[in-house]
Amino acid sequence: MKKINLLEGDCLEQMKTLHDNSIDAIVSDPPYGISFMAKKWDYDVPSVEVWAEAIRVLKPGGHALIACGTRTQHRMVCNIEDAGFEIRDVVSWIYGSGFPKSLNIHKKDERCPDGWGTALKPACEFFTLCRKPLSEKTVAANVLKWGTGGINIDGCRVEANGEKTGSNGACGMSPEKGWNANSMSRDVTAEQSQTQGRFPANLIHDGSPEVLDLFPETGDKSAARFFYCPKASKKDRDEGLEGFEDKQSTGGGGGIGDYKDDVNSMSGKFGSEKAPSKNNHPTVKPTALMQYLCRLITPDGGTILDPYMGSGSTGKAAMLEGFNFTGCELDPDYFQIAKARIESEQHSLI
Ligand SMILES: C[S@@+](CC[C@H](N)C(=O)[O-])C[C@H]1O[C@@H](n2cnc3c(N)ncnc32)[C@H](O)[C@@H]1O
Repeated sequence: MKKINLLEGDCLEQMKTLHDNSIDAIVSDPPYGISFMAKKWDYDVPSVEVWAEAIRVLKPGGHALIACGTRTQHRMVCNIEDAGFEIRDVVSWIYGSGFPKSLNIHKKDERCPDGWGTALKPACEFFTLCRKPLSEKTVAANVLKWGTGGINIDGCRVEANGEKTGSNGACGMSPEKGWNANSMSRDVTAEQSQTQGRFPANLIHDGSPEVLDLFPETGDKSAARFFYCPKASKKDRDEGLEGFEDKQSTGGGGGIGDYKDDVNSMSGKFGSEKAPSKNNHPTVKPTALMQYLCRLITPDGGTILDPYMGSGSTGKAAMLEGFNFTGCELDPDYFQIAKARIESEQHSLI
């Protein structure tokens, strides 16, 4: 059975209870540091000290995928790098569902020119891909020693017809089997793409009409080359919470900070009032997206850490992919929601 270790409290303190080199991958959606008025924890992005603790518990060569907002990603990534991670890439998730929350300056004062505002339409979020330095001389030697160091290309290929890839039950690679040497080659032929699926890219989209319209129509619709995942549905948010009451989710007051003035995220990170829901966390990430990200960087049977688990979407995804999971959450209400969502998937088959 998949193991879970859920730790309520401040992640810096809670991570100190974990052993060195005991975690295979980190997949997390930490505070973006964009709330000025609300909860103290969201005044800034996680500190270098937090990421240094994360790197201590991660195995050498272990990867992390860390969600970052557009306005503060530079601060997030500097702290991650200063803690000792190698920055490997940025995965961009583009979407059409964001709406601009721009102030019409002319409406505020008619002496100002018409048609000028203060914000762009939000259409992307980033996941920084980084890695703890290898302990061995080569990636292959590191994989043999720790199981970590590579990324799971074949497990995350996008099928040629544009369908999302399946669970890692079909494609996961164990350290013993080795990460697929072929797929690490740059020389992937068109034929291989057809038979094995498209090589995973550092671009993900939401499949919305707005985004699909950006891709030119070709014989094979080019958007289908990329993994896609829409925002979290109510069913996804509430699964496993049958005994919980419906509550209003808001940008502010729910413990996540006051994002009402700043709409900037499809996950609702910045505002957008939602219908009452059992999972009232305002920034729930879709499980399918988190499954894909977990699968991309975690060796078969590995343990994933999320120091900022919120309502537990990474943990739920980890269970569905057959991984073990360790998560921390500061807010007691969100902790209970995360626990219920993750435990309800713990016994699922992969
Ligand atoms: C952006 S949310 C994560 C949401 C999550 N991806 C989900 O789908 O529900 C970040 C979470 O980090 C928690 N948090 C903030 N500071 C923390 C800390 N120092 N230790 C542990 N959790 C913390 C907040 O309570 C919040 O729930």
